[in-house]
Amino acid sequence: MSNILFETDTNFEIVDLRARQVLDSRGNPTVEVEVLTLGGGIGIAKAPSGASKGIHEAWEKRDKDDKRFFGKGVFSAVRAVEEEIADSLIGMDSRYQKEIDEELIRLDGTENKSRLGANAIVATSLAVAKAAADTYGMPLFRYLGGVQANTLPVPMMNIINGGKHAGSKLAIQEFMIVPVGGESFFDALRIGCEVYYTLKGLLKDKYGKSAINVGDEGGFAPPIDLTEDAIKALLEAIEKAGYSTDAVKLAMDAAASSFYDETKKVYKIDGKEITAGEFIDFYVDLVNKYPIISIEDPFFEEDYESFATLTKKVGNKILIVGDDLYVTNPKRLQKGIEMNATNAILIKFNQIGTLTETIEVIQMAQKHGYKTIISHRSGETEDTTIADLAVAFNTGLIKTGAPARGERTAKYNQLIRIEDLLGDQAYYPGINAFLK
Ligand code: PGA
Ligand code: ZN
Repeated sequence: MSNILFETDTNFEIVDLRARQVLDSRGNPTVEVEVLTLGGGIGIAKAPSGASKGIHEAWEKRDKDDKRFFGKGVFSAVRAVEEEIADSLIGMDSRYQKEIDEELIRLDGTENKSRLGANAIVATSLAVAKAAADTYGMPLFRYLGGVQANTLPVPMMNIINGGKHAGSKLAIQEFMIVPVGGESFFDALRIGCEVYYTLKGLLKDKYGKSAINVGDEGGFAPPIDLTEDAIKALLEAIEKAGYSTDAVKLAMDAAASSFYDETKKVYKIDGKEITAGEFIDFYVDLVNKYPIISIEDPFFEEDYESFATLTKKVGNKILIVGDDLYVTNPKRLQKGIEMNATNAILIKFNQIGTLTETIEVIQMAQKHGYKTIISHRSGETEDTTIADLAVAFNTGLIKTGAPARGERTAKYNQLIRIEDLLGDQAYYPGINAFLK
């Protein structure tokens, strides 16, 4: 055996690259890319799609042809993959992810990936990684994370949907349960499911059958108007299911840009209009009263100052998470780090566009002691890449909705498989995922 490594194996060469329009969980078209290597490895990936998108996200290219899918078609993004991208990538080594992603960025040539489309680029980037892993005969999490990849993430399960993901009056977009008390990932998921069923029963008894219709992420969308009433419903479900608030914590994603009035500079919530200062007091009060462990996007996506004030006030006990604030973008995260704006970041690869850039943002955040939460989008597919990504980078945290709707459970089921595969090596961090 020689000590010198030559990567002369031609099996990893990309020999074919195809794309097509498929449907996401809202019935909108999205981009699917399929990559084939010489060794017969296949990688298939699909771009997810947000509803409450950050204004600084990489650009999701849509055809704007009103006669097809009411303008939402992604045929032009598909064509970009099959023509320009395929021309450049065929013949390249699928293991050279950085080189491939740099080529995609160079080819696109814009700051926000608007020429080829971030949906075309992200699906290609992920499909290449999956094709390389498949050529090695390795699961994706192992290929990306190596022998250190053994931490299963704590699921932050969005079981009451509001904001842009539901038709109710709730301003806050997501009310989550966080089963930190599980002994394993599977055990935590079981606890989460039991609380979910219990909540279903409670909502049905209180508000009638229509209250158990679900929103975009599988959580219920009951006719609850006030923030605190949604929190109380979760607490009641946790208790009735037989758990303490040591075992099951709460989390929220306000997605506050969606109810901020930029002209009046007020937030429209709970039938009132409140300033950022009043909103800070509102959050501090909630954190003091309830077992809340994380708040995401508490303010409008440009208001770094209010994020920093809230982090200063409660960041020693809970996570303050930037999603629309950072849009998985290193420049926006850098500003956050300099201002101590938050202590955590939500990671969505289609906000930035390539796997390499996503990994760089995760590493940058981890280096500065920020927690990283791998996240789905409200528009999803059966693609399970985020499950592997969470384990590969030991993020310890994932947001992938309620334990309902196939596109959400697909990720949970992939994590069950990974935990099974890791056997005794698997580690479920529980509450430690939230501690310094
Ligand atoms: P989106 O919402 O996918 O609709 O942007 C998810 C989130 O805000 O976390
Ligand atoms: Zn969010």
